[in-house]
Amino acid sequence: MSDRPLSLSDLNARKRDGRKLVMLTCYDALFARLLERAGIDLLLVGDSVNQVVAGRESTLSATLDQMIYHAASVRRGALHTPIVVDLPFLSYQVSIEEAVRNAGRVLAETDCHAVKLEGGAAMIPTVAALVDRGIPVIGHLGFTPQAVNLLGPRVQGRSASSAEQLRLDAQALANAGASAIVLELVPRALATEISSSLTIPTIGIGAGNGCDGQVLVLHDMLGLNDTFSPRFLKRYDEQAGRVIDAATRYATEVRRGEYPDDAHSFE
Ligand code: KIV
Repeated sequence: MSDRPLSLSDLNARKRDGRKLVMLTCYDALFARLLERAGIDLLLVGDSVNQVVAGRESTLSATLDQMIYHAASVRRGALHTPIVVDLPFLSYQVSIEEAVRNAGRVLAETDCHAVKLEGGAAMIPTVAALVDRGIPVIGHLGFTPQAVNLLGPRVQGRSASSAEQLRLDAQALANAGASAIVLELVPRALATEISSSLTIPTIGIGAGNGCDGQVLVLHDMLGLNDTFSPRFLKRYDEQAGRVIDAATRYATEVRRGEYPDDAHSFE
């Protein structure tokens, strides 16, 4: 397999080859540039931006314009990495026509490559309509944050009936033409079973290592967001402490008149 950057049309082949897909969320050009240099396969402009960056309680108040702003920024930073953009709450659930118009706006105004939307059976006609119009779609099942008021932030698919519903939803999304499915907060055995039953890849978050890829929220895995510690999250750095330390040292030096010193001043 060549080392050229991944394209969305390569996803099934990557799954067949057994090469894991690596996805991270990204909301701005600067991090996009760094993540592309790190060789991350796919960037997700998640509506989690509404919590992580905008400080809102949930993803529900994210707007289409907000997603387009962040997606266009990410695209300017990562020119060679496939970028998936979350369709925000109510931008695709009201009617298929609105979904097509809004998803079309996302791709046309950002030059990103696919949209992601949440939900199973109820979303199948929408997914099929988007794909029919040339808009690649990534599905999202299990805990779907836009339904937090209904589900609570809990592991999904633990009962026999909800596990069966997840299996059916995953197959229906694949049949409707979805390019991949994010599985969030799903028991490992069920996520593994669903992954083996599909030809399209699954990308897990809190769904164990039997998925075809993994996604994490960048600010969580960097330890920038140190107030969020779910079981599935592994922190690869502890940057919150380092940011506070650097800002504290800067403040101390400014207050003491030590910064700027001669080396950081113009003659
Ligand atoms: O918005 C987001 O960050 C997501 C991930 C949790 C998969 O959808």
